[in-house]
Amino acid sequence: MLKVCIIGSGYVGLVSGVCFADFGVDVTCVDKDSAVIETLNSGEVPIYEPGLKELLLKNSAEGRLKFTTDIAAAIKEAQIVFIAVGTPEKSDGSVDLSFVEAVTTTIAENLNGYKVIATKSTVPVGTGRSIEKMIRDKARADAEFDVVSNPEFLREGSAVEDFMRPNRVILGAETQKAIEILKELYSPLYLIETPFVVTDIETAELIKYASNAFLATKISFINEMAELCERSGANVHTVAKAMGLDKRIGSKFLHPGPGFGGSCFPKDTAALVKIAEGFDYDLKIVKAAMDVNSSRIIRSIEKIKEVTGGELKGKTIAVLGLTFKPNTDDVRESPAIKIVNALLNEGAVVKAFDPVGMENAKRDIIGEVTYSSDVYSAIDKSDVLVLCTEWNQFRRLDLEKVKELMVEPNMVDLRNIYKPEKMKAMGFNYISVGR
Ligand code: UGA
Repeated sequence: MLKVCIIGSGYVGLVSGVCFADFGVDVTCVDKDSAVIETLNSGEVPIYEPGLKELLLKNSAEGRLKFTTDIAAAIKEAQIVFIAVGTPEKSDGSVDLSFVEAVTTTIAENLNGYKVIATKSTVPVGTGRSIEKMIRDKARADAEFDVVSNPEFLREGSAVEDFMRPNRVILGAETQKAIEILKELYSPLYLIETPFVVTDIETAELIKYASNAFLATKISFINEMAELCERSGANVHTVAKAMGLDKRIGSKFLHPGPGFGGSCFPKDTAALVKIAEGFDYDLKIVKAAMDVNSSRIIRSIEKIKEVTGGELKGKTIAVLGLTFKPNTDDVRESPAIKIVNALLNEGAVVKAFDPVGMENAKRDIIGEVTYSSDVYSAIDKSDVLVLCTEWNQFRRLDLEKVKELMVEPNMVDLRNIYKPEKMKAMGFNYISVGR
């Protein structure tokens, strides 16, 4: 049986490890954080990801999934070692590779036979090649290994589904031996005819950034069209729908809102610009997508001011949704958090509710916020209701009750959950995006 070791038990590493175990291979997930490993060994999942806990319990019970802090032993036992540690953003937008480098050294020190070393972490073009060199320099002279780039395209909130039914698998590998081993690992995906792109390491590394930067650009593009719609009286949803009917454009990722957030798009767009600079190229389109995205927060605050008549000081604002999107507890780079911080900065009183993100949000919100126990207590006695994240439970609010609870029925719907005509007919002072 194939033995796999995954170093780094964060979103990518954990989801990949659990899903590989479900493919029937032997998986050891490693993390240096003993608290994370203890949690996982007790059958709990430290992140909120639908379906992950069930799959983790099933595969642990069937004996194919282990969690440990003993990185050396896990490397020695494995034929395939995945690097899935964090690649955080440095203050200048470039990628901090210190975790990848530390893990690479440990892999080199524990090479005890042929291994495939695959990066799942998002790493700049050229990193695979430097990993190869680092191992070559540090490992035994007769060490046998191949370095492979195998980027991941998981969306938080549907990561298990994305892993099990990917649009494609990218294998940046340069020896037949490594390609065959990885194809064997991914063999269950052949049954559902998943396309495999086998290419060189640099191309695989760039595919990941190019994909994320393109999706981020699509979002910024539709957000600019939303601005134009607001000024011209057009409806952005009809524009997006009709654009999407052209198969060359496609309908996905054309939903306007407060801008993209999360742990990937903001970091990866900034990193790609830096990577390009390193190759003496100015990546103008990606830079523009980032600029448009920053302006979404300012624009969202303007919309809130529009319903209060310009003043935010002393106004009570109910904010629904703090995570960067629904079905996750992740608040990294969340537009909602930036909006809350901007509101507090302007002297507003903020009452917030999120179904799962409140604990994480507390770390990033600068200032006093009332964290409500449910939607309606957040809305109670507020001057404005701001919908920041499109959780399903915000889609069917009892609007009569909302109106009664509020001091004034002002709603800023940054995710276009409700219909403007209906809201106006009900007496709401309602503003959304691009309609
Ligand atoms: C993203 C990519 O979608 C994954 O393919 C990729 O693997 C992942 O990054 C990564 O690099 O690991 P994720 O960050 O989980 O996944 O979230 P998305 O669903 O892509 O949403 C990102 C942001 O864009 C959210 O803030 C969302 O609200 C926003 N968005 C998305 C829009 O504003 N409009 C849209 O039409 C779509």
